[in-house]
Amino acid sequence: MFVQEQQEIEVRIRAYCAEQGIPLNEIKWSALPFSGEWGISTSFFAAAAAEARSGKSVNVPQRAQEIAEQAAGLIRNVAGIARVEAIKGYLNLYFETPIYARRVVDAVLEQGRDYGRGAPKGERVMVEYAQPNTHHSFHIGHARNVVLGEALARLVEFAGFETIRASYPGDLGLGVITVLWAYNKFYKGQEPQGVHERGQWLLKIYVEATALLEPKENETPEEKAQREAYEAERREMYRKWDAGDPEVRALWQMTREWSLEELRDILRLLDVKIDVWFFESEVDEPAKQIVEELIARGIADDERPSGGAVIVKIDEKLGLTKEKYRTNVILRADGTTLYLTKDLALAKIKFEKFGVDRSIYVVDVRQSLHFQQAFAILRLMGFPQAEKCYHLGYGFVSLPEGAMSARRGRVVLFKDVIDDAVRRALAVESAKAPDLDEEQRRQVALQVGLGALVYSMLAVDNNRDMVFDVDQALSFDGRTGPYIQNAHVRANSILRKAGQIPQQAAFTHELTAHEVTLIDLLARFPETVQQAAGEYRPLVMANYAYDLANAFHSFYHSVPVLQSESESTRAARLRLVAAARQTLANALALLGITAPEVM
Ligand code: ARG
Repeated sequence: MFVQEQQEIEVRIRAYCAEQGIPLNEIKWSALPFSGEWGISTSFFAAAAAEARSGKSVNVPQRAQEIAEQAAGLIRNVAGIARVEAIKGYLNLYFETPIYARRVVDAVLEQGRDYGRGAPKGERVMVEYAQPNTHHSFHIGHARNVVLGEALARLVEFAGFETIRASYPGDLGLGVITVLWAYNKFYKGQEPQGVHERGQWLLKIYVEATALLEPKENETPEEKAQREAYEAERREMYRKWDAGDPEVRALWQMTREWSLEELRDILRLLDVKIDVWFFESEVDEPAKQIVEELIARGIADDERPSGGAVIVKIDEKLGLTKEKYRTNVILRADGTTLYLTKDLALAKIKFEKFGVDRSIYVVDVRQSLHFQQAFAILRLMGFPQAEKCYHLGYGFVSLPEGAMSARRGRVVLFKDVIDDAVRRALAVESAKAPDLDEEQRRQVALQVGLGALVYSMLAVDNNRDMVFDVDQALSFDGRTGPYIQNAHVRANSILRKAGQIPQQAAFTHELTAHEVTLIDLLARFPETVQQAAGEYRPLVMANYAYDLANAFHSFYHSVPVLQSESESTRAARLRLVAAARQTLANALALLGITAPEVM
């Protein structure tokens, strides 16, 4: 908040040190916790130690204190700085409390929705997420992926990166073929009406087919023969798909579209706008070319002449003596590519065609080794961006009753959960806010139901497994989305009652501890954005949003606003409430959660 003053002070300190030949490197400031006033502090130990290293005989702590004292002497008449002290080698600056408080609040209100936005970093990031396999229905585990990916994309974008959102659905492989086979055999020509009905039906077909193709216990010879016949039909289906049989390809296209329609509908609901769609099937050809390139460049070994595959001995090529990335097949003996090969081709497209500097993959943590291997090969290929590839893994989502299993049809469909969430939110709204009209109530219920669901997924560290408990996720108290949304609504209702927000206010009244905490949190929002984006951790922002809501609720319960002691206190507090409302909205927006006006 005192950037300009800070810079001015730094210039003075630097000039002084240069003149005295003091080897000063970076001047790092850290915030001093509020103790009646706000302040910042920096230490001169590093400078003193550098002097000692350069051969001067100095007592480091003593020398640090000396420099701090001299620096303190340089800082006179800086507007907004109340006092300066040099203690134990540290220089502490204290701000005039009313000026500091006012600047924080003014900054939030002036910048509004842009409060906290970082300066452009001149780097392009691609975030790849929302890439479930097709021919399946969208379950709650997929939702964790989308929710995390979207929050991350919003964070890096707001932090200052140019951001591209990408998806990469898996649209080929045995699972897909299994559905095509069963559809063709048992349901040919049928088509349920409704986007979600169709998507869910594909899952049902998949489950049925899997059961038919799996060996049973105590199988009779007739059952065995039947199963093997099915198996042969499925193999034939695969062969035809591979050969590009027009009928099979058309069936594939049609059913794939059913899945994608469902996916697009869910993304719309979650306010996710994917910029680029890649498909696994579309990188198969480029993947074959990569194999040739890697052989030609000596990165891959072609063992086909001796009946083997094409492999990359990653550890050996990187000169590692210990096993780390192992040896990987990139082309099978039968000439087919692998998941890994396709990822190499995809990365190349991302780097070369989309000019991506940083590439983030939001994918199940169980694929961790796969990505480490892919990134290692990209390094071998000489892509500088390989250093800036990052796999944001996330843990397994299970249910209170145990693991989900798509093969067994034991999944919790996202659509069912969200419908349930909205129903519950609607019931709460009808009781709590009976004066809302029907349409408004529906809209709020959707915002709150979604808020609950989204927050429940962001409030868990991405690396940890989570048990998805609908009741808990949709509870509206404690560490939940609705609790945070409710802080926004309360702030809004105070401001509505006030009629308008005063144009300005000097914070000259005695600040309560609640106000201090709020101002502290508001001031910290921009750095929290940078931290969450820099560490690729939406959880950092999820925690911040909760802390801010919590601080606001406490303030709301203990500090009068409309009934403040004086007109000037009332004005200051109204502006503080407005700034809190804005920052809550900004934080929620970064998580992909709407901030309702009423609820
Ligand atoms: N479709 C894959 C799956 O559901 C995830 C794709 C991950 N992205 C990638 N570039 N490999 O497991």
